[in-house]
Amino acid sequence: MNIILHVACSPLGHAAESHRLARTLIAALLEKHPGAVVVDRVMGGVAIPPIDADYAVSQGGDADVSQAGSMALSDVLADELEAADAVVISTPMHNYTAPAALKAWIDHVVRVRRTFDVSAAGKIGRLADRPVFIAIASGGRFGEHTRQPDFLTPWLAAILGMIGLHDLSFFTVQGTAFGEDYLAQSRREADLAVRAHLGL
Ligand SMILES: Cc1cc2nc3c(=O)[nH]c(=O)nc-3n(C[C@H](O)[C@H](O)[C@H](O)COP(=O)(O)O)c2cc1C
Repeated sequence: MNIILHVACSPLGHAAESHRLARTLIAALLEKHPGAVVVDRVMGGVAIPPIDADYAVSQGGDADVSQAGSMALSDVLADELEAADAVVISTPMHNYTAPAALKAWIDHVVRVRRTFDVSAAGKIGRLADRPVFIAIASGGRFGEHTRQPDFLTPWLAAILGMIGLHDLSFFTVQGTAFGEDYLAQSRREADLAVRAHLGL
C-alpha cells in the first residue's frame, strides 16, 4: 500500500469526531503499511463549490462540453481517487444522510466517461476495486432498531459500487450527543472494531 487518500467531509475539520475516527483508521493502516503516504483531501466546510452548468450538461450528453470549472476539479479529485491504494472517508451524518461536502465529492468523482460508462445493461464502473474505509459520526443512533433511518451507508455502498468500489468497511461513532460516558464507550468500541478488522 503506497497511497492512502483521506477525504475529510466534516465542517469541523480536525475537531470533528469523524476525523478522530479517521485518524485511528489511518494510524492502524500505517502500522500495517509503514511506508504509505497519506494524501488529505479536505472537503468539509466551503472547500469546493457544487458542480457547475457545463459539468451537468456533460453528464447528460454524449461528450464533455468543457474542460474547465467543475470538470477541471473533477479531474483532480478523480486522479487522486484513482491513484489511491486505500481510501478513508470521514463524514458526519447530516439529516439522515451525507453532508453536502461528501455529496459534492461524490458528484465530482462519479463522472460518466471517466469513472463509469453507460451501457445497454446499465452503468459500469471503471475503477479498479480497492479498500475504502468509511468513518462516520452521528449525534444519535441510526439504522435498524433505532429511531433514525440510515440514508447514508446504503447510498454510499450503492454509488461507490457503481464506479467499481465494492470493498467497503464502515465504522461508526454513534450517539455523540448522548453525553461524555456514552461517547467514550462509543469511541472505544469503534477503535477496537478498526483494529480487529485490520487484524491488529
Ligand atoms: C446540519 C446537521 C444535521 C445533523 N443531522 C443529524 C442526523 O440526522 N442524525 C444524527 O444522528 N445526527 C445529526 N447531526 C449531528 C452530527 O451527526 C453529530 O454532531 C456528529 O457527531 C458530527 O460529526 P463530526 O464531528 O464528524 O462533524 C447533525 C448535525 C448537523 C450540523
